[in-house]
Amino acid sequence: MLTDNKRIIASLIDIEGECAEDIYNSIAVPPDDKMGDYALPCFAFAKKLRKAPTAIANELATAINSAKKPPIDRAEAVNGYLNIYIDKLYYAKDLLEKIIREGKNYGSSHIGEGRTVCIDYSSINIAKPFHIGHLCTTVIGGALYKVYKKLGYKTVGINHLGDWGTQFGKLIVAFKLWGKKERLDAEGMTYLNELYVKYHRESEQDVTLDDKARYWFRKIEEGDKDAVELFDLFKEITLKEVKKTYKRLKISFDSYNGEAFYNDKMQPVLDELDEKKLLVESDGAKVVELSQYDMPPCLLVKADGATLYATRDLAAAFYRKKRYDFYKCLYVVAYQQNLHFRQFFKVLELMGKDWGLYHVAFGMVSLEDGAMSTRKGKVILLEDVLNKAVEKSLAIIAEKSPGLKDKQKISEKVGVGAVIFYALYNNRIKDIVFSYDKVLNFDGETGPYVQYTNARCNSVLKKAGFKALMNDDLPADFESINNVEGLKLITLLEDFPNVLADVTEKNEPCYVSRYLVGLCQAFNRFYYAHRIMDVEAPQKKARAMLVSSVHTVIEEGLRLLGIFSPAQM
Ligand code: ARG
Repeated sequence: MLTDNKRIIASLIDIEGECAEDIYNSIAVPPDDKMGDYALPCFAFAKKLRKAPTAIANELATAINSAKKPPIDRAEAVNGYLNIYIDKLYYAKDLLEKIIREGKNYGSSHIGEGRTVCIDYSSINIAKPFHIGHLCTTVIGGALYKVYKKLGYKTVGINHLGDWGTQFGKLIVAFKLWGKKERLDAEGMTYLNELYVKYHRESEQDVTLDDKARYWFRKIEEGDKDAVELFDLFKEITLKEVKKTYKRLKISFDSYNGEAFYNDKMQPVLDELDEKKLLVESDGAKVVELSQYDMPPCLLVKADGATLYATRDLAAAFYRKKRYDFYKCLYVVAYQQNLHFRQFFKVLELMGKDWGLYHVAFGMVSLEDGAMSTRKGKVILLEDVLNKAVEKSLAIIAEKSPGLKDKQKISEKVGVGAVIFYALYNNRIKDIVFSYDKVLNFDGETGPYVQYTNARCNSVLKKAGFKALMNDDLPADFESINNVEGLKLITLLEDFPNVLADVTEKNEPCYVSRYLVGLCQAFNRFYYAHRIMDVEAPQKKARAMLVSSVHTVIEEGLRLLGIFSPAQM
């Protein structure tokens, strides 16, 4: 906020027996702007003052209106509420100048300074296809990463690879029996998946295969050269392939330490659990009893000595705390793993580690035709979804703007952006059904709509000669944006920093996507209601400043979501 409006309002309100701070804290932003920009409910004062709330509100409104203090425009008393309206034009000039001066840094802050946030996201499984189920974790994590960073936090993006487990023994067996190195080099992941599926088919007939798989997995654990070489090769192939997708999604990581990394880091944690008398034996296995908390026991070591997913997550939390001394550690993982996280967090709590771990859960993605089966190798690859979205946007763009250059490049940005935007448009906990037509609707609440509006801003600015206008000393006439549509945009632009703070508060990137759609709708209303080009220069300048600010905020908002903004569409 440019001016602390609440502070100014509070300074004009004098209620016997109430201190200024309490009054300040009672002033709220009403849900509907028809009830003013700020409101003070007067019911709580009625008893002390022995007056009806309506009378109190009336008196306060009169006092405020006679003070005529900017940026307050007027006060009204309605049903016991004091509603206060702000003169938005008063700070429009400062706000627009600030956004133009700061550019993409507008909305940045230092709230996070000195604090580290670890974000565990995407966390794919080696040698398994990167399917549509990984879309949400990847883009939600990526967006949170960028927003926290913008607010001054030090961020650590961690891809906690699923690179541990008997499946790697199975793959080695399959590769040794049926594998062809040339095909592996040429086909990469698709081939690995094929081998994996073949293994499962064959092992139904041949029970000795599973013994062989266990044997090879043990070899990996023991660090056998032959086994580790193959395992590393599978890992390399997987990473090479997913990194291509990450690039399209504008995603990056600071660490790829996955489950295997914690192989030698679990024992100290188990020892500490033992010391704290939390580890109990149960049929030869070691567990932490959680029945008191209505949860099944957290299994940490199986009877055969094997450790589990939870054991490695505990070791990872210890490692991260020590290495990064995080203020928060977020786990962006589907809600199917709710129980795992509740158990693992509870175990840490019982150990007395109050570390600020959060499970940032999200729902399932399915395709409209119901296809989401991961049975027997039939999966929907994320890459295929992105490609199809790009192909479809190319067709739409070719029809809408036949003369546009670089259609191919632009449709890559639009298609991929559409998929990301859609995945980030709802409260993350909701299940979503994916439909190409919906996500690519240029007039809907979609990525392409936001990108299109942004391209429109861009072309308006070009036509208006924005740079030249700004280099000119000519004063801007802000009266030209003193209308419902213009002021709505001012309010929204001013709100951008608050939206970002809300994102980190709730770990909910949809605040940004929803905000952007609202901003674009408000912009388009302004665009259709007011001329920008053929008005006098001072008016044109003020309107162009508004357009430029909208443009800056849309682009920055999209960037935070991991979406490119084409200059033209
Ligand atoms: N690889 C796991 C999966 O795909 C997700 C890992 C999430 N992170 C974690 N620290 N448990 O299900």
